[in-house]
Amino acid sequence: MMNPFSTLSGSIPESVMQIYIIAMLVLVVLGTVIDIVHKKSAEYFFENSRKAKEARVRTLDSSEVRSIVAKTIASDVLTSAEFCNPHRRVAHLLTMYGFIFFILASVVMVFFYPTSGSATPWLWSFLWHIGALMVCVGGFWFWFVIRVDVSAEANPWYHLVRADLFILSLLATNLFGLLWSITQASGMSGLSVFFLVLFIISSLVLFGGVLWSKFAHMFFKPAAAIQKRIAEADGSLDNLPEPADRTDPASRDRHSMELLRDAPLNMGLGIKREKPQHY
Ligand code: HEM
Repeated sequence: MMNPFSTLSGSIPESVMQIYIIAMLVLVVLGTVIDIVHKKSAEYFFENSRKAKEARVRTLDSSEVRSIVAKTIASDVLTSAEFCNPHRRVAHLLTMYGFIFFILASVVMVFFYPTSGSATPWLWSFLWHIGALMVCVGGFWFWFVIRVDVSAEANPWYHLVRADLFILSLLATNLFGLLWSITQASGMSGLSVFFLVLFIISSLVLFGGVLWSKFAHMFFKPAAAIQKRIAEADGSLDNLPEPADRTDPASRDRHSMELLRDAPLNMGLGIKREKPQHY
């Protein structure tokens, strides 16, 4: 497997490729910051934390907080544990790790092995190609089969809404990148220029469209997952009522509990009674 950027350096200077990557990084940072300011999400987040602090039943010490952060990273972030549907989870793991491999290998190849004179260790070109392929497998599976509007709402797969900007530009970037590399390596110069142009356009939409797409969820979701676990541990419970305890007479005799008077004490979670198959 070849480093497609070193072959390209014959026609496009390496400095141009490096500036392009830096420009994409700047676009992602700008898009995320403007998103935070525009949606006032930081303001909401801190306001919410303040309320949670007031509502908490106990204060967590720093080792408990560290353990919650470690658990969130090991579970919600690294293994996409928030997904109950196993197909969605596997598809998300494929797109997430595929995209990380693809980005990491692009940066290493463009900054450290940009010319054909610099022999690229096989690992980087392998990671770039396998990463793009993983995004395509997970992403197309998600797009055609798993997506809620397709699987649960019976919308046709070609029904587009603005929220699809992220998944579609992610898929296009990885697919066109892969096709560009293959056609370039096979000497099909006309086709490879065509796919290179599509690769550049789709990556511009992906990294430049952060403000309008779900791109930034990869930064926000981990923070939300940590906050959710902390709310459970310190008893603030996101402003929700405590789970009712029917062994406690005061709870048992509440008017709303009348219907449950003869029901078994532990009925399990209602939400788990049907196998998760929608979300
Ligand atoms: C390289 C990083 C990542 C990529 C490429 C990625 C990709 C995706 C894609 C394609 C979707 C479906 C979006 C759609 O509905 O159009 C998605 C949804 C989701 N992702 Fe990620 N993701 C990444 C990181 C993360 C991380 C770090 C977390 C959590 C800690 C996360 C949690 C979620 C959740 C909970 C959803 C479903 C909820 C929703 O649709 O908003 N993702 N992700």
